[in-house]
Amino acid sequence: MGRVLLALMAFSYISSATPEGKLLFENHCLRCHAQGSKKPLSYLKSKYRNNAEGVLQLAKRCPWGRGLSEMEIRLIAEWLSEGK
Ligand code: HEC
Repeated sequence: MGRVLLALMAFSYISSATPEGKLLFENHCLRCHAQGSKKPLSYLKSKYRNNAEGVLQLAKRCPWGRGLSEMEIRLIAEWLSEGK
């Protein structure tokens, strides 16, 4: 079951127009990183452009990454670093 879900997520990530990372960010991160916060999304996007690894490293150290799977964190990191 878990495997099927993972495969589905991977597939929808590749094929869908709404990036999974964006949805995950909105659900898990935006409440602390909204516009007007100390480190808003726009700041994170410019700082981590082309640096998904930087986000991944932080996710492993910081409390906000706990409770998310490796894959979820990777999706968020890749979306953030895309700079779109
Ligand atoms: C409970 C509030 C909270 C949540 C939820 C949260 N963050 Fe944060 N985040 C913070 C705070 C506070 C900092 C540190 C700000 C500081 O002191 O520099 C931070 C810092 C960061 C940084 C480093 C910023 C820098 O200056 O380099 C990144 C990247 C980041 N968060 C990404 C995320 C992502 C991705 C998520 C969702 C998975 C997330 N955060 C969820 C509060 C939160």
